[in-house]
Amino acid sequence: MKIGVFDSGLGGLVVTKAFKQALPEYDYVYYGDTARLPYGEKTSGQILSYTIEAIKYLIEQNCGLIIIACNTATSIALRYLQQRFIPSFAPDTKVLGVVIPTVEEAVSGNVSRIGVLATNATVRSHIYQTELQKINSKLEVFEVAAPELVPAIERDDFAAAEAAAAEYIRAFDNIDSLILGCTHYPLLKGVFRHLLPENVRVVSQDELMGAKLRDYLRRHVEIDISLSRGGSLRVLVSRLNNHYRRVADRLFSGIGIEEKAL
Ligand code: DGL
Repeated sequence: MKIGVFDSGLGGLVVTKAFKQALPEYDYVYYGDTARLPYGEKTSGQILSYTIEAIKYLIEQNCGLIIIACNTATSIALRYLQQRFIPSFAPDTKVLGVVIPTVEEAVSGNVSRIGVLATNATVRSHIYQTELQKINSKLEVFEVAAPELVPAIERDDFAAAEAAAAEYIRAFDNIDSLILGCTHYPLLKGVFRHLLPENVRVVSQDELMGAKLRDYLRRHVEIDISLSRGGSLRVLVSRLNNHYRRVADRLFSGIGIEEKAL
């Protein structure tokens, strides 16, 4: 069995890189639904059905453990997948998301006012506020939607992304941590760290997901032993463009990318 990773686009590749660095021995299949992004601007029904299609596809590719490396799809679809879809469709498969590990990491420091920057759909779900306050009901959580960032990052317009990021963070007042609640945003983490005061901790998912997956596999030996260890990576996207090819090549030098529409 392989490890499947799913996102709408480039964000998931950044998380896959983190997995490969922390756990290079496993076999990975990455699927990015680039033809239909941004997911953050879709309805919950669309996000749910696109995510189910991608998960089914990764299961067909022999993935026994699948990480939804997309906050938007995690917010809208993970609970349904874990409680309804997977038990009837593929009960031996495990599907995990990125929100809970991020929340655990964010509360590990000394925090009281946390900002969350995410897509429209993630903010609409209030998943971060809900999960953070489940751990500590006194936390003040400020969720702000940043709908311009994913499209700008995907069209390789980092000047527009930086200008938009500077605008979005003006909405946060006196926070001690900022969760980058979208896996595309690690591509801008340097910008956020530069824009925010030094004492604000920027929680970036590329820096935490590798250790979280390692920890998960240590605690779930029954899953760990079912995973193959060939050190391979297959990257598939529903639509391929040159920018994607360049980013993938920068992350995984010389990697071939397959196009596969669902
Ligand atoms: N990387 C996805 C996330 O974490 C971006 C979603 C989108 O396509 O808008 O939310």
